[in-house]
Amino acid sequence: MGSGGGLVLVLAAAVLCGTGGVTGRVLSGQKVCYGDFKRSCYKLAYFQDLSRRVGFEEARQACEMDGGALLSLESEAEQQLIENMLQNLTKSGSGISDGDFWIGLWRSGNELATSSPCPNLYKWADGSISPFRNWYTDEPSCGSEACVVMYHQPTANPGLGGPYLYQWNDDRCNMKHNFICKYGPDNILEKELGDRAEPNHGNFPTVPAGNPYDTSKPEDQYHVIATETGIIPNLIYVVIPTIPLLLLILVAFGTCCFQMLHKSKGRSKTSPNQSTLWISKTPRKDSSMEV
Ligand SMILES: *[C@@H]1O[C@H](CO)[C@@H](O)[C@H](O)[C@H]1NC(C)=O
Repeated sequence: MGSGGGLVLVLAAAVLCGTGGVTGRVLSGQKVCYGDFKRSCYKLAYFQDLSRRVGFEEARQACEMDGGALLSLESEAEQQLIENMLQNLTKSGSGISDGDFWIGLWRSGNELATSSPCPNLYKWADGSISPFRNWYTDEPSCGSEACVVMYHQPTANPGLGGPYLYQWNDDRCNMKHNFICKYGPDNILEKELGDRAEPNHGNFPTVPAGNPYDTSKPEDQYHVIATETGIIPNLIYVVIPTIPLLLLILVAFGTCCFQMLHKSKGRSKTSPNQSTLWISKTPRKDSSMEV
């Protein structure tokens, strides 16, 4: 089954919608779910526009307001899954390129007063207690850097620790990056029930395939739907801001046509140019008389 290809298609379609609009919003803001983990749905927020990337706290809040949490990586397998997601997106020509991602690992500055070494002070923002870490060589450097990113610099030359890809680095929390959110399947169920009333499903050719796990487990049905509903709000974001622009173009076009019509009528009556000349001459005469 080409289910993997289907997933890529879902993402690619959403990406196309995203970049086709005037807005240029989040490139890949769809939730994708996998059956293997307890909290097993993820959403990448990648901003091509550097000015839209956000600080750690903002990213954390964005995930929480969306019903999830900033990504925790609790095992090598989960790390691999996210790497795979990012690789697929980068390869698909979706426009995802250099730009690190905030993950939900951080330490609060005041803990430095304790005697534990700095690397032990990092904790997961979602409350996970997993000790799994995937630091880049010589990281965490600590100091004023207290929030963690997953490197994503596919075009950068490799450093001493290898390519700057998927390994972690602590950074200053106010730096601007992309981010990844993680969700429990519970939200998905609610979402699916909420969306059931809407007859909008099936507008996209990307519905069936979903992901590699959807044949094995019954709850994965929800995942497919979640992936799909992610696109509809995306489309809305594109269409709604376009409406005023279209109206403006229409009005401009109308005005233009009207004026051209007006002019061509006027020319046939021979003398609009003379009349304007006349108008422009009179004040000059007046002023010369005054002087
Ligand atoms: C990445 O793409 C491959 C091939 O299409 C697919 O098998 C795999 O499931 C995808 N991985 C993720 C995490 O989406």
